[in-house]
Amino acid sequence: MPKDIKYIDSVMLVDKRILFRVDYNVSLSEDRTIADDERIVQSLPSIKRLYPKNKLILVSHLDRPRKRDPKLSLVVVVKRLQKYLPGVKISLVPDFLSKNKEIFEEQKNGEILVLENIRFYPGEENNDSEFAKHLASLADVYVNDAFAVCHRAAASVVGVPKLLPSYGGLLLKKEVEMIKKVIKNPKKPLVAIIGGAKISTKINLIGHLTEIADYVLLGGGLANVFFLAQGHNIGKSICEYELVEKARQLLFAASARQTAIVLPTDVLVGDAENREKGGEIRKVSEISDGEAILDIGPETKAQFGSIIARAKTIIWNGPVGYFENPLFKQGTDFIYYSIAHNPEAISIVGGGDTIAAISNKEYLGKITHISTGGGAMLEFIENGTLPGIKALE
Ligand code: 3PG
Repeated sequence: MPKDIKYIDSVMLVDKRILFRVDYNVSLSEDRTIADDERIVQSLPSIKRLYPKNKLILVSHLDRPRKRDPKLSLVVVVKRLQKYLPGVKISLVPDFLSKNKEIFEEQKNGEILVLENIRFYPGEENNDSEFAKHLASLADVYVNDAFAVCHRAAASVVGVPKLLPSYGGLLLKKEVEMIKKVIKNPKKPLVAIIGGAKISTKINLIGHLTEIADYVLLGGGLANVFFLAQGHNIGKSICEYELVEKARQLLFAASARQTAIVLPTDVLVGDAENREKGGEIRKVSEISDGEAILDIGPETKAQFGSIIARAKTIIWNGPVGYFENPLFKQGTDFIYYSIAHNPEAISIVGGGDTIAAISNKEYLGKITHISTGGGAMLEFIENGTLPGIKALE
């Protein structure tokens, strides 16, 4: 469990240059506008506490660029942040590494700088020590409020805190305290629902979930690997084929424990881009080569729904269908409503896409904790800490 982290509410930071790591890896729509800005909103309490008397330098990634890509610029994020902080001078720094030195010299207390997408620099994901030094040289103090990326050993997450006095932000504090509270002696039955497209991030975390949960319900791209492991055809559905053996091992290990890994028995197949024609229902044993799985089917909803209705603790991460197309969002909505309508259960729901899929809904208040982290939330549940949190200890 994390120990000895100092959070920003226990220190007085004044007149400092603060390198402030946030996770603004927000979901973007097809027209590259922000589909959900919850991660920005959740960072505001820390920003509002720090910016008036300090020089804040915000650092975030967006998506997974390998090099500079104008489509993944943080311009959209800066505009949205400006909407929440009207009157504050907020500027994007296009290239802190090789140019733009004067911007830092001219920054005054109360002004906010945002570094361009930090994954435009290979040194970030490689956790390059020289790159971390460059970042650290911009500031006197480092604050991490990016719970959602604390599972990545990147330069701005684990490299910089070795070099500067470092603190956790208020969002990080809330996430750590809430998730710890929910998973400490969880009431049974504990049901985990895991979906989404980041298959390789999540599959390794399922092993631990099968140790603590009574049921692990799978959907989305993640379920496809398990269908293959069971010998089903998945047509042209998304998949990471090298993980099929891992899925087989997990099914075997779970069967030896008391945990049920529950896979969809029927799905919707269709064309992800077609917004007129909905999907067709298929048994998972009847999918043909040209078909793509895009959502869970009605029989699966009934089964998942009855398991969720009996749960006392619920952990949910990842949409169970291609929610970007409203025709294939119904399964994900169904999971959300099932959780919201179980008044007995303590629930944690997390992940950028999960939040994007359920936001603006009337029942959000019925979820015990909505985490900004997806993979980070699962890994925190598994290990009780994360590389980015350890780096602050
Ligand atoms: C997330 O959205 O889970 C975090 O921002 C981490 O993103 P990543 O999976 O691309 O590292």
